[in-house]
Amino acid sequence: MKICVTAGPTREFIDPVRFISSPSSGKMGYFLAQEMLKQGHEVTLISGPVSLKKPTGIIVKYVQTAKEMRDQVVKGIANFDVLVMTAAVCDYSLPEIHTNKIKKNDSELVLSLVENPDILKEVSKVDHDAYVVGFAAESEDLIENARKKMFEKKLNMIVANDITQKETGFASDDFEGFILRSDGSLENIAKCSKSIASKCILKAICEDICES
Ligand code: CTP
Repeated sequence: MKICVTAGPTREFIDPVRFISSPSSGKMGYFLAQEMLKQGHEVTLISGPVSLKKPTGIIVKYVQTAKEMRDQVVKGIANFDVLVMTAAVCDYSLPEIHTNKIKKNDSELVLSLVENPDILKEVSKVDHDAYVVGFAAESEDLIENARKKMFEKKLNMIVANDITQKETGFASDDFEGFILRSDGSLENIAKCSKSIASKCILKAICEDICES
C-alpha cells in the first residue's frame, strides 16, 4: 500500500528566533514509517522538525509549520491508500510573523494568535479513498475525547494516548493507549515500547482494511 505518515511537532514562528511548538519527539511516526517499510509498503513521511535520523528507503518531506504540513498532506492525499497523522500540529499561529527580533521593553508582551487549519478536517473535505488514522493526545477523559475527535474529523481509526503519563506521554520512549475504530470497537495497547506499539497499530490498520 501507499502510506503517508506525519510525525513530530510543527513550529509557528513569532519572530526570526522564537517559535511556538510542542515537545513531540516524532518517535511514534518514525517507528510507524519504518515498520511500514519493513512490511513492504511504499512510505512517505511528512516530518516536522525532529532530531531523528532521516530513514532510508522512505520518501521524507520536511516541513516546519502547520500550513506547510497541510499543503503536503492535502496535495498527496488522493495518491495514498492510508494516512496516519501522528504529528502534534500546533493549533495556533501568529497572523503575521515579526520581521525583526522582538526587543524587550520592560513591559508585558501580549501575543494574539489565530487558529491554524485542522489538517484532518481539510482532508475529510477532499475527494480521496484513503483510510485515515488520527492520534488523540489527551490529558482528561481519554476515550470520550478521542471518540469525539474521530467523529468530528471523520476518521476510520484514532489512537488515544494520555499525555499526562510521565513514562508514556509526550516525547517518551514508551506508549500506552487505545485503538478506537469508527465501528465502535476499542483495543487496549498495554505499556510497551513505541516500536512494539507501532507494530500493533499497523496490524490493526491492515486488519481493518482487509475486512472492509
Ligand atoms: N490535527 C490536525 N490538524 C490540527 C491539529 C491536529 O490534523 N490543526 C490532527 C493530529 O495530527 C491528530 C489529531 O488531529 O492526528 C488530533 O490532534 P490533537 O492535538 O489530539 O487534537 P486537536 O484536534 O488539536 O484538538 P485539541 O487540541 O482541542 O485537543
